Amino acid sequence: MIKFSPSVLASDYMRMGEDIARIERAGADWLHLDIMDGLFVPNISFGPSLVKAVDAQSALPLDVHLMIVNPERYIDAFAAAGADYLTVHYEACQDPAKTLQRIRSAGMKAGVSLKPGTGPEVLAPLLTLCDLVLVMTVEPGFGGQKLIPQMLDKTARVREMLDAAHSPALLEVDGGITEGNAMDAVRMGARVLVMGTALFGSDRPGEIMQRLRKGESGL
Ligand code: DX5
Ligand code: ZN
Repeated sequence: MIKFSPSVLASDYMRMGEDIARIERAGADWLHLDIMDGLFVPNISFGPSLVKAVDAQSALPLDVHLMIVNPERYIDAFAAAGADYLTVHYEACQDPAKTLQRIRSAGMKAGVSLKPGTGPEVLAPLLTLCDLVLVMTVEPGFGGQKLIPQMLDKTARVREMLDAAHSPALLEVDGGITEGNAMDAVRMGARVLVMGTALFGSDRPGEIMQRLRKGESGL
């Protein structure tokens, strides 16, 4: 069963609480919070205090995506803020394995994300240490971009690796996911769909998620 994790980066910042409540009523499964430091990616978004505020309002699992250098510095801060999944970039960690273990010992599910240019083989030693793999389907840093088609093949490759390792980790895709390409990602093995612009930018997000859930049952 696919899960929808709408990216709050695409919400209306002037009425974020209502916009998040709207998406929640529409049937979102998780909320995706993109944390950007202006160093790992050329954009700055928000930090633990916003995660804490969202956690106070919403009962949905918080899927926090760290696009920051040396993310291990902030594991405890995001645990305290209420993150349920904490995903770090392989490329940003000095010791990815150690960082994933620290996330788990802080009481969160551990995720690892790959930028489009990073090959899936780097995941091999990490498959038993993570609860989620996030395949970036755009260059990280901004919402509203177009999905990079080659990332669908990469998603299938990661799926094969997870299956071969009998890993229960969830496979999530993130960036440029729309109603038009979501089923392609699901066919390649993705089960968690981050959708920012496509859902927060729609006045009928519930209908989009419903149609995609129906589409999944037809696969
Ligand atoms: C990009 C972020 C994505 C982005 C998704 O760096 O990681 O989560 O917000 O937004 P859309 O769905 O608009 O591409
Ligand atoms: Zn993200």
